[in-house]
Amino acid sequence: MKILGISAHYHDSAAALVSDGVPLCAVQEERLSRRKGDAAFPAGAIEWCLDHAGLSPDDLDAVVFYERSMLKFERILTCALRAFPQSWRSFPAAMKNSLGEKVWVRGIISAHLGVPRSKILFTAHHQSHAAATFLTAPTRRAAILTADGVGEWATLTVGQGERRADGGTAISLLREIRFPHSLGMLYSTFTAYLGFAVNDGEYKVMGLAAYGRPTQVDRVRRLIRRTPDGAFTLDVDYFEYHSSATRSYSSRFVELFGPPRAPYEPIDLDTAEGHRFADCAASVQWVLEETLVDLTRALHQETGLPDLCLGGGVALNGVANARILDESGFERVFVPPAPGDSGCALGAALYADRVYFGQPDRDLPDHPFWGPHVDSKDLLRVAREDGQDVEELADPRLIERIADALHAGSVVGWMEGACEFGPRALGHRSILAAPHSAEMRDRLNRDIKYREEFRPFAPVIPVESAHRYFELPPGGARLGRFMSGVFPVRPEWRSKLAAITHVDGSARVQVLEREMAPRLYELLEAYGRRSGIPVLLNTSFNVAGEPIVCSALEGYSTFRRCGIDMLVAAPVVVTKRGLSQVKTLKEEALA
Ligand SMILES: [Fe+2]
Repeated sequence: MKILGISAHYHDSAAALVSDGVPLCAVQEERLSRRKGDAAFPAGAIEWCLDHAGLSPDDLDAVVFYERSMLKFERILTCALRAFPQSWRSFPAAMKNSLGEKVWVRGIISAHLGVPRSKILFTAHHQSHAAATFLTAPTRRAAILTADGVGEWATLTVGQGERRADGGTAISLLREIRFPHSLGMLYSTFTAYLGFAVNDGEYKVMGLAAYGRPTQVDRVRRLIRRTPDGAFTLDVDYFEYHSSATRSYSSRFVELFGPPRAPYEPIDLDTAEGHRFADCAASVQWVLEETLVDLTRALHQETGLPDLCLGGGVALNGVANARILDESGFERVFVPPAPGDSGCALGAALYADRVYFGQPDRDLPDHPFWGPHVDSKDLLRVAREDGQDVEELADPRLIERIADALHAGSVVGWMEGACEFGPRALGHRSILAAPHSAEMRDRLNRDIKYREEFRPFAPVIPVESAHRYFELPPGGARLGRFMSGVFPVRPEWRSKLAAITHVDGSARVQVLEREMAPRLYELLEAYGRRSGIPVLLNTSFNVAGEPIVCSALEGYSTFRRCGIDMLVAAPVVVTKRGLSQVKTLKEEALA
């Protein structure tokens, strides 16, 4: 049975293909269209998935959309009518979005793919999130919590999943919290207030939080009232996202917290104003964490299960995830590589396979590499044409060569196999560098990533060495598999790991098992033999404002436009020539 899953029309569209119960491939539209967070109908992603699998649309047994668009339309309509007449300005915009695309999804899919309308199915948004986390995790029974901004109506669900011995699968969502009461929207409102882009800047709020103190917690708690059953309601007087298309916080919010930050103003942490923003970030982060810890603690008591699967965009908050692991009572916490809406494409396809069609349960590969493969021949050709120094090296020479370069301070663009599904580079489209000095962090921020200095970089380390350098609780290595947890760097190593240690002494560590990315694993070992510490800085291979690179040509283009010294797509190694040499070559060519 062949099932195509699609997520689209909100942010970060994607497509995924499941064949006989196992994912064949999955990719976000942005990786192909090169528009960051591309929310368009993922025509490119669908075409690539079908091509990759050698299928035509006729071969598909079903196409599954990741949410029930009519319910979403109902929510938008209801909220607009409730807020009338204040909503009269936003109403036409909301209608245009919804009427134009969201409601008529069946027709759009049918028109794009030429599949009969009867083959097009819909899952509920949070069912897709739940399936994306539970069905890809190595567990047979688990509690499930999903939390995001909003799907149709639900913004948070709790439930339970079971893969039974008879091959059947059950995913029951027991309770939900509904719009406009939303942890994701609470956090996104602060994201907007702090001058960052909603749906993209939430991790900047988490990074900024480490610079502040939670001095505003009492004020944030005025926004979110906890109910006796462990849930919450928001005081909607502080928000406008439910009634306005342009503003998420109200004038009452501004009265409470002070003037918002202008988006392009730098945050100067040496000023009182800069501290106020950092304290705001720390306070909303604190309230998010305590709310999630209370909810998951209650869920643990209710289910009595040792495993928890987290899904939805809120599960990208690695600081909160680590606290849930520490304090909820669950022994293991699973977060998939793509817990947000892009991952719903895979979740929807798996949900249809197991639950709607009742296909037998399967163990799934436990890795994030489902996208297009890098073609080293393309890199070889374009680098030679461009007059760069190119070598072809077999392992282990390539590994030793790159370890030497990293140890000497080079920054390396590292491309390998299939690109990651989800927002994080986990070793197949990464920029790697020595993790030891603050100068390296500043250099990467300034010359390569072009981004705010308060954003930390992440480390990658072999699982066998992780406990030596990081304070991982039981279950921490699992959370670190896809960089889903933030943990303390052991104090004695912080000065030697300055480029990856955040201001509060923490790091969002990727804990690598050899079989997930063998070549990167060997590079870490080779680097450890030289530096004494088998840790590398691992940041996504992109510059600010662009999606992570996908093809060899995009990797090469990024390499040429920023301060990366070497580019690798095994067996090809490109070393950047000095700018003067390149200029001379170009001048020669023009002469
Ligand atoms: Fe979502």
